[in-house]
Parts: sequence; C-alpha cells; structure tokens
Amino acid sequence: MEKLEQLYEGKAKKIYRTTDEQVVWISYKDSATAFNGEKKAEIQGKGRLNNEISTILFELLKEKGISSHFVKRISETEQLVKKVKILPIEVVIRNIAAGTLAKRLGIPEGQILPRTILEYYYKNDDLGDPLINEDHIDILELATKEQLQQISEQAFKINELLTSYFADKQVKLVDFKLEFGVDENGQLLLADEISPDTCRLWDAETNEKLDKDVFRRELGSLTDAYEKILKRLGGLSCTK
Ligand code: C5P
Repeated sequence: MEKLEQLYEGKAKKIYRTTDEQVVWISYKDSATAFNGEKKAEIQGKGRLNNEISTILFELLKEKGISSHFVKRISETEQLVKKVKILPIEVVIRNIAAGTLAKRLGIPEGQILPRTILEYYYKNDDLGDPLINEDHIDILELATKEQLQQISEQAFKINELLTSYFADKQVKLVDFKLEFGVDENGQLLLADEISPDTCRLWDAETNEKLDKDVFRRELGSLTDAYEKILKRLGGLSCTK
C-alpha cells in the first residue's frame, strides 16, 4: 500500500489517503496543544510515544471484542486505520474528579466519583468544544439515538477494560476521551487515539501525573511521563 496526498492535518496528527480507498495513513506529530490550541509546543518524541501507546491500547481492545478503526502500526510514528467519518462528538468518561469537571462543579481533584459518569462535548473549535447533552446531539443531528446508545455502551465497556488493564500496571485511569466514526458500511467504530494526550493517568501509589496535564500545568518533562506509561505497558520503543 502506498501513501498518497494529505487529506487533513489536525493538532496532533496528519492523515493521508492511500492506494486502498478504505484505509488512511496516520502520522503522529510531535506537536502538543492545550486549552483549545492556545498553548502550543513541539515536543520531540511525543508522536512516537503516542503512536505506540495508542497501538497497544487499540490492540488490547480489539482482543476484547471492541471494533475500532485500527489496522496496524507501520512505523515509529505511523499507523494505518480504516477510513471513517468521525462523529463531531467527544465522549468523556470520568472515574475520578479532575480537569473541567473538578472546576465546573467544585469537586476536589482526586475525589473518587460515586459512580463512573459519561459526558458529551460538541467537537467544534469555534465554539470551544462545549459540553452538550443527548437533546443537543439530537437537535444538531450529530448522531442518531441508536448510535448514541451504542456509543455509551461501548464507552462504559472500554472504561472497564482499560481501568483494570491500567490497574495491573499500577496506574489509575482518572478520565479519558473517545471519538467514534462510521465506516462506509454504516458501522460505528471506535476511532482517533487513546494515549496520555487523551487520558488522565496517575501513578497508583503517588498520584504522579503521567499524562498531558504535565504539559498543561507545566509539571515537568512530558516525554519522561509518557515514557513511564509506555514502559509500564511493555512498549518496545522505550528509550529510558
Ligand atoms: O479537560 P477535561 O477535564 O474536560 O478532560 C477530560 C478528559 O478528556 C481528559 O483525559 C482529557 O485529556 C481528555 N480530552 C481530550 N481532548 C479534548 C478534551 C479533553 O483528549 N479536546
């Protein structure tokens, strides 16, 4: 398969067409952004780390029966995925209060929630990705009721699988964001990436932050934190 022209450039990835109409070629960038693109930096090695971590997690989920766009990792910073139309919804699952939940509702960061919650955000940079509910999704026609039902079932299932997987590696899965897409047959597939850019991951003993909050809050070296995660997941390209 060959890489053809670029179709799209996002904040963290570039997407290329390939000679297979149903497959796109993704290249992970070394760019880090936060606060809706207001804070930006180039961090050497970030693309490689996220590509490998996301590969490990998508392969795990595939083994456990979660259908996704993931096909295979093809180099340190690249992977092939099935072409899908991404639904403009960010699905956030939260186990422990942090980030915008802690801020919005005044719940202390680190407080374990009485139960896992799910939130939807409208993926729209101009609007700053606002929090939305099922009625908003319905009137904006962002997804059908059936798709939303499947999305929420899958999101909670993925949370169970990832929470127990990370717990075995002495990591707490605080919260994370998922995206879903629809393939040419209308099948809903988990898409995008699952990495320390899209999850909050804390060391189980010390609560050390091992995710993008290191960059957002300037807590130290982002690549050191991501390397720690990759190492605990048994990643092969660890440099430390
Ligand atoms: O910022 P907030 O607390 O709402 O983020 C919840 C979770 O979703 C975090 O793990 C964060 O990394 C992730 N997220 C993301 N992309 C966004 C917004 C949030 O990956 N655009």
